[in-house]
Amino acid sequence: MVALTGRDLLGLGDLSSTELLELLSMATLLKSQKLTLHSNKVLGLLFSKASTRTRVSFTVAMYQLGGQVIDLHPNVTQVSRGEPVQDTARVLDRYLDVLAIRTFAQQELVTFAHYAKIPVINALTDLEHPCQILADLLTIREVFSDLTGLTLTYVGDGNNVANSLMLGCALAGMNVRIAFPQGYAPNQDIVEKARAIAGDKTEVMLTHDPVIGAKNAHILYTDVWASMGQESEADNRLPIFQPYQISQDLLSLADPQAIVLHCLPAHRGEEITDEVIEGSQSKVWDQAENRLHAQKALLASILGAS
Ligand code: CP
Ligand code: NVA
Repeated sequence: MVALTGRDLLGLGDLSSTELLELLSMATLLKSQKLTLHSNKVLGLLFSKASTRTRVSFTVAMYQLGGQVIDLHPNVTQVSRGEPVQDTARVLDRYLDVLAIRTFAQQELVTFAHYAKIPVINALTDLEHPCQILADLLTIREVFSDLTGLTLTYVGDGNNVANSLMLGCALAGMNVRIAFPQGYAPNQDIVEKARAIAGDKTEVMLTHDPVIGAKNAHILYTDVWASMGQESEADNRLPIFQPYQISQDLLSLADPQAIVLHCLPAHRGEEITDEVIEGSQSKVWDQAENRLHAQKALLASILGAS
């Protein structure tokens, strides 16, 4: 079992390649084996944005490990009334064993982690979505057995999911291509970090051309064109992003065995067609299920289980 005892997961770059691959193996084992936490532990979920998959999969993962969960919606805490992060963090630290946070600014998460001694997990920020990518890589490995040398192409907005995918693919020995419209690039610091991890072994390619991106790819991946917090931009983005839709035509350029992933929730007819998401190459439901297994492995390795 990979030991991440007491560690934070603020971004995917917090893991080494070995740790990432060991977590995936552990997640696979947890599909058929039961692990129990060494002592009763409590996970707090502090989510300032909506969530279906992340909230439920973390909760079920913790229950299946024999732990408990408190859903700390900001509206029912003093967070919504402006209690400073550094105060909230030091107080929650005294009650909880681990805290998963979904918020806007990555800096808020970093501040939480600085003031709370307990492990803090990024459950999505504007910058990264590392838990999602653990499930994505698990899903890809289930289909292709070995991640090494595969090419994943993300088509759409250079958002949190794109950022974490670049890191995850580089750590896993995969090539990653991000095809995005001008002005919607992924985070430049993360591009450089991913390229440093990839070294000369694999490629981190940025392109504005979805056709170049899709050619011979093993995985086509997309996400919403306007993320949470960007709702007011959604209409303006529609015509800009239209050429970046994953359609059957785009999919036909990929490897014949290619799979399609989407972190969900999806907007059919925008970033992905109904035909593709419901088609035989779509693995989105396995991908959503794998959130549970991947996060169970993460919690068990952070909190200790056997
Ligand atoms: N993919 C994902 O994080 O979904 P939720 O927003 O429903 O948690
Ligand atoms: N990029 C999306 C992901 C949702 C799971 C968002 O941040 O809203």
